[in-house]
Parts: sequence; structure tokens; C-alpha cells
Amino acid sequence: MDTLMLSASEDDIIAAAELLKKSEVVAIPTETVYGLAANAYDEAAVRKIFAAKGRPCDNPLIVHISDLDMIKDIASTVPKLAIKCAERFWPGPLTMIMPKSDRIPLVTSGGLDTVGIRFPSDKCAHSIIEKCGFPLAAPSANLSGSPSPTNAKRVFEDMNGRIAAIVDGGESEVGVESTVIAFENEGIRILRPGKISYEDLKAVTDNVFIDHGVLERVAEGEKVRSPGMKYKHYAPKAEVVLLDGTAEEFRDYVTKNSADGCFCLVFSDKEAVDGVPYLTYGESADEQAHWLFERLRQFDGMGAKKVFAHCPSQDGVGLAVYNRILRSAGFNVIELGKNK
Ligand code: TXA
Ligand code: MG
Repeated sequence: MDTLMLSASEDDIIAAAELLKKSEVVAIPTETVYGLAANAYDEAAVRKIFAAKGRPCDNPLIVHISDLDMIKDIASTVPKLAIKCAERFWPGPLTMIMPKSDRIPLVTSGGLDTVGIRFPSDKCAHSIIEKCGFPLAAPSANLSGSPSPTNAKRVFEDMNGRIAAIVDGGESEVGVESTVIAFENEGIRILRPGKISYEDLKAVTDNVFIDHGVLERVAEGEKVRSPGMKYKHYAPKAEVVLLDGTAEEFRDYVTKNSADGCFCLVFSDKEAVDGVPYLTYGESADEQAHWLFERLRQFDGMGAKKVFAHCPSQDGVGLAVYNRILRSAGFNVIELGKNK
């Protein structure tokens, strides 16, 4: 299949919506990462998403809306706390898990009786959903296991020939996927951290928990609250090693341990080590979130065999950056300065 490249112009948005109405899969920009969209109510269309990504069929898709009114057709009940969160954070990078309605096919929900709903703030995503008139199921637009794409070029690399079209809406602003939350015992459980942080959610209720699967590897066969926790994620071709320590400790370790094909992922030029090529991903958590996936993909293009990554802080959106990079590294973290 030829994959059509579309712009974010009015005409192209109409063209994208026409393809979606014909049960095709179209990659669309959002403020977090690009999504691989199809009609959430249409089983045949949703199956095409799973095929294009090579995604396990028990991993549910997030359903995207452009209007609060659409929820009543998607969720069977809406928790009170969800309404509070919607008022505060929607449109925006927050996905809320709720009991699903009968209209959402089990293919979309990965066989679960719940559904993740998100109201993106991206204008182009909003217009496309609005023109369709139905909600769009959309996982991140990467091949299963790869870093999520934050621009149309990266989507093309993974999806050319696999989907009907890609809408180019420029760079995704946030750079990491939405915060995923579930409601339990009058509280909020964070299943995947994102731009809407633990601290942000605390402003809605005191009762906010971070699921252990966010920072720990889930055990083989363990019953997880979010199927995505079971799968390998965000892995570039290179082996990634997370180094947790000061800039000085980082430079020391890399100087002693680097070999041919080794690269560094650092906050700024200050951590560079002579003779070891590197990319920076910024000093603030927001910059790190914005650049992380693009940098991981750049390392692939550079033929990196091993990447020493300077471990980010876990505050605010930093928890999301840490959660993603931890998985890229297959949970391989070296705590520097510990044995001194
Ligand atoms: O920012 C985002 O969320 C992007 C953009 C395109 O909206 N989408 C995205 O989708 O990241 P995906 O499929 O790559 O990640 C969704 C995650 C998966 O880990 C999945 O297991 C979890 O959310 N999830 C979805 N529905 C769920 C449900 N009903 N219960 C538990 N976890 C769910
Ligand atoms: Mg994904």
C-alpha cells in the first residue's frame, strides 16, 4: 500500500477524515506523540492498527475524543473524580480508564471491560476527530517495542507501506505519551506517568498512588493493571545503560568503560567525555521529555552499539522521562558513587 503524506491544511484534514470513515488507518499528530488512528467503533479498522504495529492483541488502545459529550457513548459510568480531572486537565495529555460501554468493541479494549479515554489538546487531532464524528482509537505510531515517534518523519520510517496516510502536524510538543490513570477506592492510581504529574494530580485528591509497575519490572505472569507494563518498550537497537550520579561521576565512569561504538546521552555539553560522541537531551525535565525518543532514534541512525545515558531526576514530568528511559535500558541502572 502507498502511504499518503498529508499536511495539517483544512483540505488534507478532510482527506484524512475521509480515509478514516472508510475504515483506514491514518497516523495523526497529538501534543504527546504521533498516534495510529482508526474508528474506535469499527472492529475491522481497529484490527488494521494492531497489524500495522505488530501489537499484541491483549494490549488495549486509548480512545480519543474531541468533545466531552462523546464520553457517554464510550464509558458506561464516569467516576466523580474523572469529572474533576477532566475539568482540570482536558483537553490535554491525560488518559482516564473507565468501565467501557457496549459500543466499544473488545478488539479496541484488548478484551478488557474498561477503556482508556483521552481528549487531546492538539488542534489538528481535534479537527480530525471532529470531522470524523466518531472517536479514534490510537496507540503511539511506532512499530511495537520501538520508541514513540514525535514527528512525521519518524512515523514514515516505521509505517511507510503499512497504513493509508500520515498527517504531518510538526513536532509533538510534550514528547512522551499521556499520563494513564485509573480510579480506585476514591483515589487515583498512576499506571503510566506523563506530563500531567503526580504533583498535578495531588491537587485534585490527596489519594494518589503510583503503581509499582511504573518503576519496577513486573514479574513474569504477574497480573498487571495495565497490559502495556508487560511488554518491552522504547528500545533502540543499541544497548542503553542508565548511569545514576553526578556529572563528574558520569564522566569518570564513561572514561573508564567506553569502547568503539559507545555513545553518551547527556543533559548538556558539560558532561561530554573527550573522544566519546554524544547527544544532549536538555537540562530541564520538560526538555528531556521533548527530546528523549527522538534522541533514541538518532542513536540508531548513528549505528550506536551502546549508549551511556545520564539518569534524569524523577520530579514532575521527570518521572515519565525516567519511566521511559528505564525501559529503554531494560532496567539496567548503575548507581555511581555507591561503592566509594
Ligand atoms: O499520549 C498517548 O497516550 C498516545 C497518543 C497517541 O494519544 N497514545 C499512546 O497509546 O501512548 P499506547 O497504546 O502506545 O499506550 C497506551 C497505554 C498502554 O500501555 C496500554 O496498556 C494502556 O495505555 N491502556 C490502554 N487502555 C487501558 C485500559 N483499559 N486499562 C489499562 N491500561 C490501558
Ligand atoms: Mg506505545
